[in-house]
Amino acid sequence: MLTIDVITLFPEVIEAGTRYSIVGRAQEWGLVQIRAIQLRDFAEGKHRKTDDEPYGGGAGLVMKPEPFFRAVEFCRRPDVPARIILFEPQGVLYTQAVAQALAEEQHLILLCGHYEGVDARVRDYLATDVISIGDYVLTGGELPALILIDSVVRLLPGAIHSPESLVQDSYADGLLGYPQYTRPEEFRGMRVPPVLLSGNHQAIARWRRKEQLRLTRTLRPDLFARACLTKEDLKLLQELAESESR
Ligand SMILES: C[S@@+](CC[C@H](N)C(=O)[O-])C[C@H]1O[C@@H](n2cnc3c(N)ncnc32)[C@H](O)[C@@H]1O
Repeated sequence: MLTIDVITLFPEVIEAGTRYSIVGRAQEWGLVQIRAIQLRDFAEGKHRKTDDEPYGGGAGLVMKPEPFFRAVEFCRRPDVPARIILFEPQGVLYTQAVAQALAEEQHLILLCGHYEGVDARVRDYLATDVISIGDYVLTGGELPALILIDSVVRLLPGAIHSPESLVQDSYADGLLGYPQYTRPEEFRGMRVPPVLLSGNHQAIARWRRKEQLRLTRTLRPDLFARACLTKEDLKLLQELAESESR
């Protein structure tokens, strides 16, 4: 079973964000154990201070290294190697491929920063990974931790009812997902593409793949440039080019 420990000043945020839906059920079913650990419990002194002024001056407060080191030592199990993940805007960009790799691990320890960030010794000597969830700055690492947990837990075997849907997700094979429709067949003059009502599974599969190729090429040319395309994909792209030039 995967264990995820989240070291944070705000354990309530993690508890609230992991209580419901697929992540909540995965815990009940024993697929994952999620623990929210209060960083302050590992701080010393009467005031259990977890932050201090930056050396060299400057605005704001920096989170002290010692509580993080002690909290990680508390969480670690001697028999299981842990990935120790620090969230920072300077980290490696989080992707579906990273989520897939983390879903194979047995123990993840997530370190949430706040204020001006975390003393750099945590990044240099404690963390095994530094992850950013995007090119913007949040107030703390709790939302990144919840994003990581949500995306990893849904990949665990047994977590979702129809695992086939994981294969057709956006990014699963380097392309965006195809558009989905459900009833009604027509709503305010907006119709479902007729091929989806045809019952012809081969034609539906071709249409869906073509849509994946079209959407990824249009919306995410960066992903499209890196995608591994099959001979069939090249044929579908040719068909797309022909229909667009008409
Ligand atoms: C206000 S941010 C610190 C920003 C830092 N001074 C900088 O300029 O990079 C506080 C904490 O929020 C979390 N955080 C903010 N934005 C993030 C992002 N894009 N990805 C991952 N973590 C983020 C990190 O844990 C970070 O230590």
